[in-house]
Amino acid sequence: MSTRLKTLLGASILLGLAATNTAAAHDQGDWLLRFGGSYVDPTSDNHEIVSVDGAASFTFNFTYMMTDHLGVELLAAWPFKHDIDLLDGTKVATTKHLPPTLTLQYHFLPDGKFQPYVGVGLNYTNFFDEKTTGPLAGSNLNLGDSWGIAGQIGFDIPLNDQWFLNADIRYIDIDTKAKLDGASLGTVSIDPWVYGINVGVKF
Ligand code: NI
Repeated sequence: MSTRLKTLLGASILLGLAATNTAAAHDQGDWLLRFGGSYVDPTSDNHEIVSVDGAASFTFNFTYMMTDHLGVELLAAWPFKHDIDLLDGTKVATTKHLPPTLTLQYHFLPDGKFQPYVGVGLNYTNFFDEKTTGPLAGSNLNLGDSWGIAGQIGFDIPLNDQWFLNADIRYIDIDTKAKLDGASLGTVSIDPWVYGINVGVKF
């Protein structure tokens, strides 16, 4: 949790105020599938001795519209692979993670030519396949699972009755307890911005 979340909340309010026009799109009972790519950009101050680099991966999400304005979205992804460096840049490990996130969304303009929405939700991140290298080669690194809140702003732009373009930004509170050969290294804060670009289809 941080100023990142406050920034996102501020941007959400602006997006809501900017929403005005009308055309054709999301209705109660619709399923929306969006697929594309996301970039995970971790906070710059992860930990006292290590830093976590950014990573891109293929992502997709499903949204079910419970009403014309309220949707529930599940984010899924191909695993993200991050490098872990000492603060001087020496690479010491890699890890992979999957960050499924369940988000409740409010769509300001489900009938608009520009369809902005905001969301708040819950993230579970599972780290796996941790591998050590360089000065830490041969050591066993373990990163614990993380539960945290997630915030989101995004918009859809209809291309026709079925297809649309999408972009979104998420803040996810991800913190993991790190262990090296069983000894605690303390908590590593990932707390990333996640930037996504997608193509969507409604059915
Ligand atoms: Ni955090």
